[in-house]
Amino acid sequence: MDTLQKIPAHVAIIMDGNGRWALERGLPRLSGHKAGTENLREVIEACAEFGIKYLTIYAFSTENWNRPDEEIQGLMRIFRTMLDRELNNLHKNGVQLRHIGQLDGIDKKLQQKVQEAIKLTQGNQTLILNVAFNYGGRDEILQAVKKIVANGENIDDLDDELFSKYLFTAGSPDPDLIIRTSGEFRISNFLIWQGAYAEWYFTPTFWPDFNKEELYQALVAYNERDRRYGKVNQAKGK
Ligand code: FPP
Repeated sequence: MDTLQKIPAHVAIIMDGNGRWALERGLPRLSGHKAGTENLREVIEACAEFGIKYLTIYAFSTENWNRPDEEIQGLMRIFRTMLDRELNNLHKNGVQLRHIGQLDGIDKKLQQKVQEAIKLTQGNQTLILNVAFNYGGRDEILQAVKKIVANGENIDDLDDELFSKYLFTAGSPDPDLIIRTSGEFRISNFLIWQGAYAEWYFTPTFWPDFNKEELYQALVAYNERDRRYGKVNQAKGK
């Protein structure tokens, strides 16, 4: 892997295709989600190695409540097991765990585990890992508006910067690169405010097969992008 010139500070991933990965193998959908935790470990480690500072992963959306109960409970179990199994290792490697979304609405014991993990890792600085669980972009914006009103903010003070402070992602910069696996080309209610100027990378690979090499390919593609933020590139005159 050659050295890359630009490393995005913040990468966000829509980990899609677990179900189809399992289906292709004649396995139940939950086997796909379980397999999707194995490569997740590799991807988290690879992010730290590449020098990425923030990683946000979409693990459970507000819309995922519409899935069969068995799958919902399975995803909750997987999150719990991951915290039990991986937390010490993540902590040792300097990963700071944050949660984005609404903890209310998920199982009380799981809420407690998440809060303990956040507390344990709050001083870590190698990689900030935002886990989007019970997260929806529209819900996030609505919650922000409610908090802004409740706090009595002066409407004239409201700008991008102040608004961002009311989002679940407060304290994380906007994502530079958003990756979606499994060949789907949708935003699916993910970081709809924060992703305004993100570069997108789509790959047909199903999430459980997405590994360090695939992440590297996404970073290569990112390095070829010319980010203009609506301006013109003076050097190229376009
Ligand atoms: C989308 O694939 C994936 C999910 C809804 C769950 C993602 C969860 C993991 C990768 C496990 C890691 C979890 C945590 C809590 C950190 P899909 O089921 O929509 O796949 P399909 O489109 O092929 O059906």
